[in-house]
Amino acid sequence: MMFSEFISFIDSAQDAAAKPSDAAAPPPSSIIGAAVPRVDGPFKTSGTAKYAADYNFPRMVYAVPVCATIANGKIRSMDTSAAETMPGVVLVLRHDNTRGIYRNGPGGRASENRPPLSDDTVSYWGQYVALAVAETFAQAKAAAAAVKVQYDSQKPNVNPVLDDDMPAIGAPGGPKVVSHRGDSDAAFASAPVKVDETYTTPVETHNPMEMHATVAVWNGPRVTLYETSQGVMNHHAVMSDVLGVPQENIEIISHYIGSGFGGKLFPWPHSALCAVAARQLERPVKLVVSRKMMFYDVGHRPNTQQRLRLGATPQGKLLALQQDYRNHTSELDDIRENCGEATPFLYSTANLRVSSALVRRNVGVPTPMRGPGAVPGLFALESAMDELAIKLNMDPVQLRLGLNTDTDEESNKPFSSRHLDKCLQIGSDKFGWSRRNPKVGSMRDKDGLILGWGVACASWGAYRGPSQCAVTFLPDGSARASSGTQDIGTGTYTVIAQVVSDKTGIPVDNVQVVLGESNLPPGPMSGGSTATATVMPSVVDGVNAAIKNLLAVATDTPGSPFKGKDSKDLTLTAGRIHAKDQSPDSGTPFGDIIRSAGLAGVRGEGKSGGMGAEAKNYSTHSFGAQFAEITYDPGIAQLRVTRIVSVIDGGRIINKATATNQVAGAIVMGLGMGLLEQTIYDQRDGRPVNDNFADYLVATCADAPQIDVHFLDIPDPVMGEYGARGIGEIGLAGVAPAITAAVYHATGVRVRNLPVRIEDLLTSRITA
Ligand code: MOS
Repeated sequence: MMFSEFISFIDSAQDAAAKPSDAAAPPPSSIIGAAVPRVDGPFKTSGTAKYAADYNFPRMVYAVPVCATIANGKIRSMDTSAAETMPGVVLVLRHDNTRGIYRNGPGGRASENRPPLSDDTVSYWGQYVALAVAETFAQAKAAAAAVKVQYDSQKPNVNPVLDDDMPAIGAPGGPKVVSHRGDSDAAFASAPVKVDETYTTPVETHNPMEMHATVAVWNGPRVTLYETSQGVMNHHAVMSDVLGVPQENIEIISHYIGSGFGGKLFPWPHSALCAVAARQLERPVKLVVSRKMMFYDVGHRPNTQQRLRLGATPQGKLLALQQDYRNHTSELDDIRENCGEATPFLYSTANLRVSSALVRRNVGVPTPMRGPGAVPGLFALESAMDELAIKLNMDPVQLRLGLNTDTDEESNKPFSSRHLDKCLQIGSDKFGWSRRNPKVGSMRDKDGLILGWGVACASWGAYRGPSQCAVTFLPDGSARASSGTQDIGTGTYTVIAQVVSDKTGIPVDNVQVVLGESNLPPGPMSGGSTATATVMPSVVDGVNAAIKNLLAVATDTPGSPFKGKDSKDLTLTAGRIHAKDQSPDSGTPFGDIIRSAGLAGVRGEGKSGGMGAEAKNYSTHSFGAQFAEITYDPGIAQLRVTRIVSVIDGGRIINKATATNQVAGAIVMGLGMGLLEQTIYDQRDGRPVNDNFADYLVATCADAPQIDVHFLDIPDPVMGEYGARGIGEIGLAGVAPAITAAVYHATGVRVRNLPVRIEDLLTSRITA
């Protein structure tokens, strides 16, 4: 999904009552910005944190989908008789006996718009064609395997090369021009120095540690779905439509999530299948999507083909920039990978065109993957910039510094806070870039291996939407904050506790945070790197509302030392209520007041709007610079990424530990993108052949380089009181092109088609 679509989606999904933000720089706070350990850490390390598949209920049965073994065609016949009579089998759902699944309406976004089992067509390998439900998982698995399906099969098209004929750019049915200024064709044609290359990125499959799962429990007309969701509120809205159940009768629970990377933003068909099976059986049903099925049925990053044309002066002024890209999508939905997310504003140029086209393939529906659009887009743009620097005989850092701009030339607005130059300069210093000899294959490490050093820039949008959060002060002196958002592993529990602590003086350990339930005050999706910036102002508003109510209790309660005082003269500091003109020591712990008032707690409802009016005058983005070091052993064509220095301008950092962890994790993922990850479809039958962890390689700890993450930590004045933007996705942007630039520097081999393979390196003429 394009970042802009993401924004319009969350804007429309919730009340977008914007209110002006506080642009003043925040006062220093010991808790905001500190490396506070995750408050949910002990639950995870002790095994008490419950993930979706951990829920068990009396009379629960197990569902296993039957996956299509063709990628294009129709179901001719299906024989479920053997499966139905197997031990323990209680139900087999097919397209001709499944009732009560509807299309999703406009209130939320689903991943695959066609309801599961709604007809006899198959448009991708592994598509669910039936569902076996039995008393045990083993029985359900055996029954699913015993379902016999006959297909009328046609040859699928899973061609990874996206060269399909189509009308000219801008013509009807041709690629859509998505950004445009000046006359880029003429400027490119007459430019003295040109780069004109095509770059491709492969299909990548989301592989979060925790697989997708649903446990559905009906109680009369009410259903509870235990899910692994990056957006419980959206999941709630979608499943209400899809199941035809009023919103008040559905609850979504996602207390802990083993990450998602975008794959869990929007509900997938298994959730509805599990719920309808449970409704029909009047029994709880558990459905866990297998690792194999995760390669078919729950999205992927689509492959991209991007032609980049850069025209420049010999001095490195960018005269023209064209990015004409295509991505594959499914037969079912139009998913555009917004590869031009960062292109129009990253560098200064008067003449620009970005065009986008979709190419249909027999694959499952693509979905956002960490930094959707920008990450593959920046692989192409930043690779082309590196090639341009080489043609110009310029240092790639200097070329980029010379093209830096304080104005978003797409929107003609100033950036709210852009420090890309600082990222490049600080990164250069930390990396030791001045010691780089630009000659290919010229550098050696202490063991005599060939060293390659490369650089690339990163960018990702910044946004905050509306959010609500309730805050309650409790008689034992603790506080509770609750919001219908969720922590996908990024630290949302912790940053909410930090904000409550910052505003009340209550230690983080005494703040209970409740998330991941759709009946809580609506909070944001964990997507687009927007959750922290979005939820924080609502937490502040909730704290302020709760303090107001607490002070009213203090001045109303008989026997309270503040009885009869004007609550305007009181405040809360370090957990104590006191007169504003006296020290906190003179005051009373708030728990004492709540207890003496006989209250179970004092609650405040917090609500915050979106970006606010002033933000409309600015372009809001995060920036970064990635520096990569690789070593290359030409004798055995062995490539290692040894060091990454990442400098991120993501606004104010709220938690140094969780933020660093986000970027370090993204760097390991970027190493996987550069060297390992690629979903390969069998051209004969459309099956993803490497549909498992033995054959689909993700980077592991053993692959991880030395990682140095540095944040500029400059508050963004239009991102509210705390000035935080977001750091979940930007850490991935720029890593792969920095690696391929380093590969070129070491080997002289320019890899334009990810991932880098040993075969690519065998063409190197560099020897030890
Ligand atoms: Mo992100 S791809 O919005 O989880």
